[in-house]
Amino acid sequence: MKILDGKALSSKIRAQIKDEIDDLKKSNITPGLAVILVGDNPASKTYVGMKEKACEETGVYSIVHKMPNSISQEKILETIKMINENDNIDGVLVQLPLPKQIDTEKILESLNPDKDVDGFHPFNVGRLVAGLDSFVPCTPLGVMRLLEEYHINVQGLDVCIVGASNIVGKPMMNLMLNAGATVDICHIFTKNLKDHTSKADIVVVGVGKAGLITEDMVKEGAIVIDIGINRLENGKLVGDVDYDATAPKCSYITPVPGGVGPMTIAMLLRNTLKAAKKRKGSSIES
Ligand code: GUN
Repeated sequence: MKILDGKALSSKIRAQIKDEIDDLKKSNITPGLAVILVGDNPASKTYVGMKEKACEETGVYSIVHKMPNSISQEKILETIKMINENDNIDGVLVQLPLPKQIDTEKILESLNPDKDVDGFHPFNVGRLVAGLDSFVPCTPLGVMRLLEEYHINVQGLDVCIVGASNIVGKPMMNLMLNAGATVDICHIFTKNLKDHTSKADIVVVGVGKAGLITEDMVKEGAIVIDIGINRLENGKLVGDVDYDATAPKCSYITPVPGGVGPMTIAMLLRNTLKAAKKRKGSSIES
Protein backbone atom coordinates (compact mmCIF):
# COMPACT_ATOMS: atom_id res chain seq x y z
CA MET A 1 0.00 0.00 0.00
CA LYS A 2 1.30 3.44 -0.95
CA ILE A 3 0.22 6.82 0.38
CA LEU A 4 -0.80 9.48 -2.14
CA ASP A 5 0.98 12.33 -0.39
CA GLY A 6 -0.90 15.51 -1.23
CA LYS A 7 0.97 17.51 1.37
CA ALA A 8 4.35 16.85 -0.25
CA LEU A 9 3.04 17.40 -3.78
CA SER A 10 1.29 20.63 -2.85
CA SER A 11 4.53 22.00 -1.33
CA LYS A 12 6.33 21.19 -4.58
CA ILE A 13 3.62 22.88 -6.68
CA ARG A 14 3.53 25.92 -4.42
CA ALA A 15 7.29 26.34 -4.77
CA GLN A 16 6.96 26.14 -8.58
CA ILE A 17 4.15 28.70 -8.53
CA LYS A 18 6.20 31.03 -6.34
CA ASP A 19 9.07 30.84 -8.86
CA GLU A 20 6.71 31.61 -11.74
CA ILE A 21 5.22 34.55 -9.87
CA ASP A 22 8.68 35.88 -9.02
CA ASP A 23 9.32 35.88 -12.77
CA LEU A 24 6.02 37.59 -13.58
CA LYS A 25 6.81 40.29 -11.06
CA LYS A 26 9.88 41.18 -13.12
CA SER A 27 7.37 42.20 -15.81
CA ASN A 28 5.36 44.13 -13.21
CA ILE A 29 2.60 41.53 -13.11
CA THR A 30 1.27 40.42 -9.73
CA PRO A 31 -1.58 37.89 -9.81
CA GLY A 32 -4.49 39.06 -7.64
CA LEU A 33 -7.25 37.04 -5.96
CA ALA A 34 -10.42 38.41 -4.36
CA VAL A 35 -12.36 36.25 -1.92
CA ILE A 36 -15.90 36.90 -0.68
CA LEU A 37 -16.63 35.45 2.74
CA VAL A 38 -20.18 35.81 4.02
CA GLY A 39 -21.15 35.08 7.62
CA ASP A 40 -19.23 33.26 10.32
CA ASN A 41 -19.29 29.60 9.30
CA PRO A 42 -16.20 28.31 11.16
CA ALA A 43 -15.16 25.91 8.37
CA SER A 44 -15.46 28.65 5.74
CA LYS A 45 -13.39 31.02 7.90
CA THR A 46 -10.69 28.35 8.27
CA TYR A 47 -10.61 27.62 4.52
CA VAL A 48 -10.43 31.30 3.61
CA GLY A 49 -7.63 31.81 6.18
CA MET A 50 -5.69 28.96 4.54
CA LYS A 51 -6.23 30.46 1.08
CA GLU A 52 -5.00 33.90 2.27
CA LYS A 53 -1.88 32.36 3.80
CA ALA A 54 -1.13 30.39 0.63
CA CYS A 55 -1.44 33.57 -1.45
CA GLU A 56 0.90 35.44 0.85
CA GLU A 57 3.51 32.67 0.71
CA THR A 58 3.52 32.44 -3.08
CA GLY A 59 3.31 36.17 -3.84
CA VAL A 60 -0.33 36.38 -4.96
CA TYR A 61 -1.97 39.66 -3.93
CA SER A 62 -5.18 38.76 -2.08
CA ILE A 63 -8.09 40.64 -0.64
CA VAL A 64 -10.91 39.16 1.45
CA HIS A 65 -14.30 40.91 1.41
CA LYS A 66 -15.91 39.88 4.70
CA MET A 67 -19.67 40.38 4.90
CA PRO A 68 -22.18 39.76 7.68
CA ASN A 69 -24.64 36.85 7.58
CA SER A 70 -27.50 39.35 7.11
CA ILE A 71 -26.05 40.88 3.92
CA SER A 72 -28.40 41.39 0.99
CA GLN A 73 -27.97 39.76 -2.39
CA GLU A 74 -27.69 43.21 -4.01
CA LYS A 75 -24.70 44.15 -1.83
CA ILE A 76 -22.85 40.95 -2.80
CA LEU A 77 -23.66 41.52 -6.48
CA GLU A 78 -22.36 45.10 -6.20
CA THR A 79 -19.09 43.87 -4.71
CA ILE A 80 -18.71 41.25 -7.45
CA LYS A 81 -19.32 43.89 -10.13
CA MET A 82 -16.53 45.99 -8.61
CA ILE A 83 -14.18 42.98 -8.53
CA ASN A 84 -15.07 41.98 -12.10
CA GLU A 85 -14.07 45.46 -13.24
CA ASN A 86 -10.91 45.73 -11.12
CA ASP A 87 -7.90 45.17 -13.37
CA ASN A 88 -5.63 44.27 -10.43
CA ILE A 89 -7.78 41.24 -9.67
CA ASP A 90 -7.35 38.15 -11.86
CA GLY A 91 -9.33 35.63 -9.82
CA VAL A 92 -12.46 35.77 -7.68
CA LEU A 93 -14.17 33.19 -5.52
CA VAL A 94 -17.21 33.23 -3.31
CA GLN A 95 -16.76 30.88 -0.37
CA LEU A 96 -19.74 28.52 -0.12
CA PRO A 97 -22.17 27.88 1.44
CA LEU A 98 -23.97 31.24 1.39
CA PRO A 99 -26.75 32.22 3.83
CA LYS A 100 -30.32 31.10 3.06
CA GLN A 101 -31.56 34.47 1.77
CA ILE A 102 -28.95 34.46 -1.01
CA ASP A 103 -29.53 32.84 -4.39
CA THR A 104 -26.21 31.05 -4.88
CA GLU A 105 -26.77 30.43 -8.61
CA LYS A 106 -27.38 34.15 -9.24
CA ILE A 107 -24.19 35.00 -7.39
CA LEU A 108 -22.08 32.47 -9.27
CA GLU A 109 -23.56 33.57 -12.61
CA SER A 110 -22.54 37.16 -11.87
CA LEU A 111 -18.82 36.27 -11.73
CA ASN A 112 -16.67 37.13 -14.72
CA PRO A 113 -16.02 33.63 -16.20
CA ASP A 114 -12.45 34.70 -17.03
CA LYS A 115 -11.82 35.32 -13.31
CA ASP A 116 -13.78 32.29 -12.06
CA VAL A 117 -10.86 30.42 -10.46
CA ASP A 118 -13.20 28.02 -8.63
CA GLY A 119 -14.76 26.95 -11.96
CA PHE A 120 -18.30 27.24 -10.61
CA HIS A 121 -19.73 29.59 -13.27
CA PRO A 122 -22.05 27.72 -15.70
CA PHE A 123 -19.82 28.86 -18.58
CA ASN A 124 -16.85 26.98 -17.12
CA VAL A 125 -19.04 24.04 -16.03
CA GLY A 126 -20.24 23.70 -19.64
CA ARG A 127 -16.73 23.91 -21.07
CA LEU A 128 -15.56 21.19 -18.69
CA VAL A 129 -18.45 18.94 -19.73
CA ALA A 130 -17.56 19.53 -23.40
CA GLY A 131 -13.91 18.69 -22.72
CA LEU A 132 -12.71 22.22 -23.54
CA ASP A 133 -10.11 24.28 -21.70
CA SER A 134 -11.78 25.88 -18.67
CA PHE A 135 -11.30 26.77 -15.05
CA VAL A 136 -11.78 23.45 -13.26
CA PRO A 137 -12.95 23.22 -9.62
CA CYS A 138 -9.87 22.99 -7.42
CA THR A 139 -10.59 19.82 -5.43
CA PRO A 140 -11.28 17.44 -8.35
CA LEU A 141 -8.45 19.09 -10.31
CA GLY A 142 -6.17 18.37 -7.35
CA VAL A 143 -7.23 14.70 -7.40
CA MET A 144 -6.28 14.38 -11.08
CA ARG A 145 -2.93 16.10 -10.46
CA LEU A 146 -2.21 13.77 -7.52
CA LEU A 147 -2.93 10.66 -9.64
CA GLU A 148 -0.73 12.03 -12.42
CA GLU A 149 2.16 12.54 -9.98
CA TYR A 150 2.04 8.85 -9.11
CA HIS A 151 1.78 7.86 -12.82
CA ILE A 152 -1.72 6.45 -12.37
CA ASN A 153 -3.41 6.50 -15.77
CA VAL A 154 -7.18 6.27 -15.34
CA GLN A 155 -7.92 5.42 -18.98
CA GLY A 156 -10.06 2.27 -19.08
CA LEU A 157 -10.31 2.02 -15.29
CA ASP A 158 -13.62 1.66 -13.46
CA VAL A 159 -14.06 4.69 -11.21
CA CYS A 160 -16.80 4.93 -8.60
CA ILE A 161 -17.48 8.44 -7.33
CA VAL A 162 -19.49 8.72 -4.13
CA GLY A 163 -21.11 12.16 -3.81
CA ALA A 164 -22.64 14.15 -6.67
CA SER A 165 -22.13 17.76 -5.57
CA ASN A 166 -21.46 20.59 -8.02
CA ILE A 167 -18.19 21.33 -6.21
CA VAL A 168 -16.71 17.84 -6.10
CA GLY A 169 -18.64 14.85 -7.51
CA LYS A 170 -19.94 16.23 -10.81
CA PRO A 171 -16.69 17.92 -11.94
CA MET A 172 -14.80 14.80 -10.77
CA MET A 173 -17.09 12.73 -12.98
CA ASN A 174 -16.37 14.91 -16.01
CA LEU A 175 -12.60 14.96 -15.46
CA MET A 176 -12.50 11.18 -15.11
CA LEU A 177 -14.72 10.69 -18.17
CA ASN A 178 -12.61 13.10 -20.24
CA ALA A 179 -9.53 11.11 -19.16
CA GLY A 180 -11.04 7.87 -20.47
CA ALA A 181 -12.30 6.25 -17.26
CA THR A 182 -15.60 4.39 -17.01
CA VAL A 183 -17.51 6.34 -14.38
CA ASP A 184 -20.16 5.28 -11.90
CA ILE A 185 -21.53 8.13 -9.78
CA CYS A 186 -23.38 7.42 -6.54
CA HIS A 187 -25.42 9.71 -4.31
CA ILE A 188 -27.89 9.80 -1.47
CA PHE A 189 -30.53 7.81 -3.42
CA THR A 190 -28.16 5.02 -4.51
CA LYS A 191 -29.77 1.74 -3.45
CA ASN A 192 -26.78 -0.39 -2.51
CA LEU A 193 -23.59 1.62 -2.32
CA LYS A 194 -21.37 -1.40 -1.73
CA ASP A 195 -22.51 -2.97 -5.04
CA HIS A 196 -20.95 0.01 -6.78
CA THR A 197 -17.81 0.72 -4.72
CA SER A 198 -16.71 -2.91 -4.52
CA LYS A 199 -16.42 -3.22 -8.31
CA ALA A 200 -14.28 -0.12 -8.79
CA ASP A 201 -10.56 0.18 -9.53
CA ILE A 202 -10.70 3.68 -8.05
CA VAL A 203 -13.14 4.83 -5.37
CA VAL A 204 -13.42 8.61 -4.90
CA VAL A 205 -15.53 9.71 -1.95
CA GLY A 206 -16.50 13.24 -0.95
CA VAL A 207 -19.65 13.20 1.14
CA GLY A 208 -18.68 14.44 4.60
CA LYS A 209 -19.71 11.36 6.59
CA ALA A 210 -17.05 9.70 8.75
CA GLY A 211 -16.90 5.92 8.36
CA LEU A 212 -19.10 5.83 5.22
CA ILE A 213 -16.64 3.64 3.30
CA THR A 214 -15.65 0.53 5.20
CA GLU A 215 -13.04 -2.11 4.38
CA ASP A 216 -15.59 -4.57 2.93
CA MET A 217 -16.76 -1.97 0.38
CA VAL A 218 -13.53 -1.79 -1.63
CA LYS A 219 -11.83 -4.51 -3.62
CA GLU A 220 -8.31 -5.78 -3.01
CA GLY A 221 -5.77 -3.48 -4.69
CA ALA A 222 -8.19 -0.58 -5.21
CA ILE A 223 -7.09 3.05 -5.23
CA VAL A 224 -9.02 5.06 -2.64
CA ILE A 225 -9.29 8.84 -2.78
CA ASP A 226 -10.87 10.39 0.31
CA ILE A 227 -12.13 13.96 -0.10
CA GLY A 228 -14.20 14.01 3.11
CA ILE A 229 -13.15 16.13 6.07
CA ASN A 230 -14.94 15.39 9.34
CA ARG A 231 -14.09 16.39 12.89
CA LEU A 232 -14.89 13.68 15.43
CA GLU A 233 -16.12 14.51 18.94
CA ASN A 234 -12.62 13.84 20.29
CA GLY A 235 -11.32 16.58 17.95
CA LYS A 236 -9.63 14.20 15.49
CA LEU A 237 -9.87 15.03 11.76
CA VAL A 238 -10.90 12.07 9.60
CA GLY A 239 -12.16 11.50 6.07
CA ASP A 240 -15.14 9.46 4.86
CA VAL A 241 -13.14 6.22 4.72
CA ASP A 242 -12.44 3.93 7.66
CA TYR A 243 -8.73 4.43 6.99
CA ASP A 244 -7.06 1.99 9.41
CA ALA A 245 -9.08 -1.02 8.25
CA THR A 246 -9.22 -0.09 4.55
CA ALA A 247 -5.65 1.09 3.85
CA PRO A 248 -4.00 -2.37 3.98
CA LYS A 249 -6.28 -3.55 1.15
CA CYS A 250 -5.48 -0.65 -1.17
CA SER A 251 -2.73 -0.19 -3.72
CA TYR A 252 -2.87 3.55 -3.04
CA ILE A 253 -4.82 5.68 -0.58
CA THR A 254 -4.98 9.35 0.39
CA PRO A 255 -4.63 10.16 4.09
CA VAL A 256 -6.84 12.72 5.86
CA PRO A 257 -5.38 15.19 6.63
CA GLY A 258 -2.51 15.49 4.14
CA GLY A 259 -4.14 13.99 1.04
CA VAL A 260 -6.57 15.89 -1.18
CA GLY A 261 -7.00 18.92 1.15
CA PRO A 262 -3.62 20.56 0.47
CA MET A 263 -4.06 19.90 -3.26
CA THR A 264 -7.21 22.07 -3.33
CA ILE A 265 -5.25 25.13 -2.22
CA ALA A 266 -2.39 24.40 -4.62
CA MET A 267 -4.87 24.20 -7.51
CA LEU A 268 -6.50 27.49 -6.48
CA LEU A 269 -3.07 29.15 -6.77
CA ARG A 270 -2.53 27.38 -10.11
CA ASN A 271 -5.91 28.62 -11.41
CA THR A 272 -5.18 32.16 -10.20
CA LEU A 273 -1.84 32.13 -12.00
CA LYS A 274 -3.57 30.77 -15.12
CA ALA A 275 -6.14 33.59 -14.96
CA ALA A 276 -3.39 36.21 -14.55
CA LYS A 277 -1.44 34.83 -17.50
CA LYS A 278 -4.56 34.68 -19.66
CA ARG A 279 -5.61 38.23 -18.82
CA LYS A 280 -2.18 39.87 -18.80
CA GLY A 281 -0.12 37.37 -20.78
CA SER A 282 0.33 39.60 -23.80
CA SER A 283 2.26 42.09 -21.68
CA ILE A 284 4.73 39.47 -20.36
CA GLU A 285 8.26 40.26 -21.59
CA SER A 286 10.10 37.25 -22.96
N1 GUN B 1 -16.94 25.40 -0.03
C1 GUN B 1 -16.46 24.14 0.07
N2 GUN B 1 -15.50 23.94 -0.84
C2 GUN B 1 -15.36 25.08 -1.53
C3 GUN B 1 -14.52 25.47 -2.61
O1 GUN B 1 -13.69 24.72 -3.14
N3 GUN B 1 -14.69 26.75 -3.04
C4 GUN B 1 -15.60 27.58 -2.50
N4 GUN B 1 -15.70 28.79 -3.00
N5 GUN B 1 -16.39 27.24 -1.51
C5 GUN B 1 -16.26 25.99 -1.02
